[in-house]
Amino acid sequence: MRLNKERTLLVTGGAGFIGANFVLGQMAQGVSRIINLDALTYAGNLDTLESVKDHPDHVFVLGSIGDRPLVEYVLNRYRPDAIINFAAESHVDRSIDSPEAFMQTNLLGTFQLLEASRLYWRQLPDKAKKSFRFVHVSTDEVYGSLGDSGKFVETSRYQPNSPYSASKAGSDHLARAYFHTYGLPVLTTNCSNNYGPYQFPEKLIPLMINNAVQGKPLPIYGAGANVRDWLFVSDHCRALERVLEAGTPGEVYNIGGNNEKTNLEVVDTVCALLDEMLPQSPYRPHRKLITFVGDRPGHDLRYAIDASKIRRELGWEPHETFETGLAKTVRWYLDNASWRQRVLDGSYRGERLDMPENLA
Ligand SMILES: NC(=O)c1ccc[n+]([C@@H]2O[C@H](COP(=O)([O-])OP(=O)(O)OC[C@H]3O[C@@H](n4cnc5c(N)ncnc54)[C@H](O)[C@@H]3O)[C@@H](O)[C@H]2O)c1
Repeated sequence: MRLNKERTLLVTGGAGFIGANFVLGQMAQGVSRIINLDALTYAGNLDTLESVKDHPDHVFVLGSIGDRPLVEYVLNRYRPDAIINFAAESHVDRSIDSPEAFMQTNLLGTFQLLEASRLYWRQLPDKAKKSFRFVHVSTDEVYGSLGDSGKFVETSRYQPNSPYSASKAGSDHLARAYFHTYGLPVLTTNCSNNYGPYQFPEKLIPLMINNAVQGKPLPIYGAGANVRDWLFVSDHCRALERVLEAGTPGEVYNIGGNNEKTNLEVVDTVCALLDEMLPQSPYRPHRKLITFVGDRPGHDLRYAIDASKIRRELGWEPHETFETGLAKTVRWYLDNASWRQRVLDGSYRGERLDMPENLA
């Protein structure tokens, strides 16, 4: 399947971090018309889409993937050639305090989206039916936690440990069932932790940058020993393009950057970059702002992705190393202080992390 100008993509959650990076990347390439369905929860931000607001190939629809009549209307009105489902509640901490929204969107919302897609897809002409794709964007957290060694492969056992990962695991199973039961051409991707521009500042890297530039404490859970496998967001978006273009329906693709770092290493590197980029800052060395706080319940120790399948079968390679990607990210947040500020002026309250006064 080739992406081209005539192609219409329904992107859900395209006002969030990864979805918006995907939409902006697609628009920059001029390869597709985008219908962007997003409920604009606290994590959705139209500021991020400002540059494509009046673009004739970008249509923003405010609404939920769980709103079946709306989703059916959007499908029949815009006739997409493919759907890419980013829409989700995505923050583990929030899922611990308020799991219900996670079940509503990640489980039931994905179900409604799949079901509406199936009804739409089955009445397409044969050629369009054959080339139609539904890409379900998921996470490595569905596989649970690793010990000191080993990596997640596509066949690793599902062992979700948080309400977030359990809801995503459930959505992956639904996606799988829609392929096996109905033949809907679904492809699922499980990706490791992303970082980069436009990430909501409740997530580790933007939170640390944000606090550090203001001289506020940098709260790290436990001893900072939890390991995540970091991937620069545009590398994730390019992987999703490859899955859309060349992936095999029914298959699962793990996506990861082979960049395992402890949380403490990540924060240390952010601090070192800030020391370098802000030589006049009164808060240098920024690492003295690091503060260890009580660990969160059920905190998975280590995630690591074996991405050899997507590398081998679809020829995908990340472009950024952790060092180059992180330097670009820190630079971006420094250069886009007004984006940061407007996000923080909004509904963000910095729940959890034990130290709310440090987060806003
Ligand atoms: N961020 C990561 O590190 C990471 C890693 C792997 C996979 N993922 C997955 O990628 C996807 C995107 O993650 P993100 O970090 O961009 O999340 P995000 O929280 O930044 O954005 C989610 C977007 O979905 C929208 N949304 C929420 N509920 C909705 C609903 N019911 N209907 C329509 N829109 C809704 C929000 O308004 C927001 O714009 C998620 O499915 C997540 O599970 C994220």
